[in-house]
Amino acid sequence: MPMQITKAVFPVAGMGTRFLPATKANPKEMLPVVDKPLIQYAVDEAISAGITQLIFVTSSSKRAIEDHFDKNYEMESELERRGKQDLLDILKGILPEGVSCVYVRQPVALGLGHAVLCARPVVGNEPFAVILADDLINGNSKPCLGQMMDVYKELHASVLGIERIDPGMTQRYGIIKTDGGNNRVFNVNGIIEKPHPDVAPSDLAVVGRYLLRPEIFGFLEKTERGAGGEIQLTDAIAMLLKEQAVVAYEFDGKRFDCGDKLGYLKATVEYALNHAELGDAFREYLKSKIGDLGNAE
Ligand code: G1P
Repeated sequence: MPMQITKAVFPVAGMGTRFLPATKANPKEMLPVVDKPLIQYAVDEAISAGITQLIFVTSSSKRAIEDHFDKNYEMESELERRGKQDLLDILKGILPEGVSCVYVRQPVALGLGHAVLCARPVVGNEPFAVILADDLINGNSKPCLGQMMDVYKELHASVLGIERIDPGMTQRYGIIKTDGGNNRVFNVNGIIEKPHPDVAPSDLAVVGRYLLRPEIFGFLEKTERGAGGEIQLTDAIAMLLKEQAVVAYEFDGKRFDCGDKLGYLKATVEYALNHAELGDAFREYLKSKIGDLGNAE
């Protein structure tokens, strides 16, 4: 089995109903945070962590994602004709050389576990990454997936990206059970999908980053419908950890839940403040706005 993780699965078949009407004809993963679609932040993070094959698990309404990562000859030749090299560079930088895309269809919306299983023929018998583009993560020391890769290289065990959450919010996440750990790495000895706060084993929630060993596929095949009537990745991980070590890694950085309107707005504000071209002007604007807000009723 290859030691290096070079494949990443992006489950992008979901309908994105929380953002209707914006997501009626556009995939939610194409919503921009400032000037880049969410899916491209996820792809950039994967590539920076050494991923060279991007596997998108899509559905019929997601063609815009394929177009985004494909060459657009018409636009490129027009920009060339106009001498717009800077814009051409932006287009060409979307998918660097040596990185390829594969698209697999998830014919029915049976959940995250099912989506990952759909990628099995492309992943094969290799460890791989799963990235949920809804969770936009601004890593501090380095991007989140790169931090997790360092843990994988040391332990060769599946790694789940986690974050400490408000204990009242456990019903939104997969929650791990642990007997402790150190240096941000926790042994996982249980995991449960969206538990009620009264029964949640901890306040450590899985965010949309996973490094998984290929044995997960055998368990996904056996996984029955769980929370929400869906085939949950969490339930397959619960079986996997009975057979081999699974660790959780509390990443160093800040996560924005862009599957939620407020989280998406927060991400937009923070990324705009840090934007090379817009940051200063946007900061000035916000400052003036804060004055207005102070006067509001
Ligand atoms: C999925 C997973 C959940 C995880 C979450 C992270 O849930 O099933 O375990 O904590 O992503 O964003 P979803 O947000 O798709 O309901």
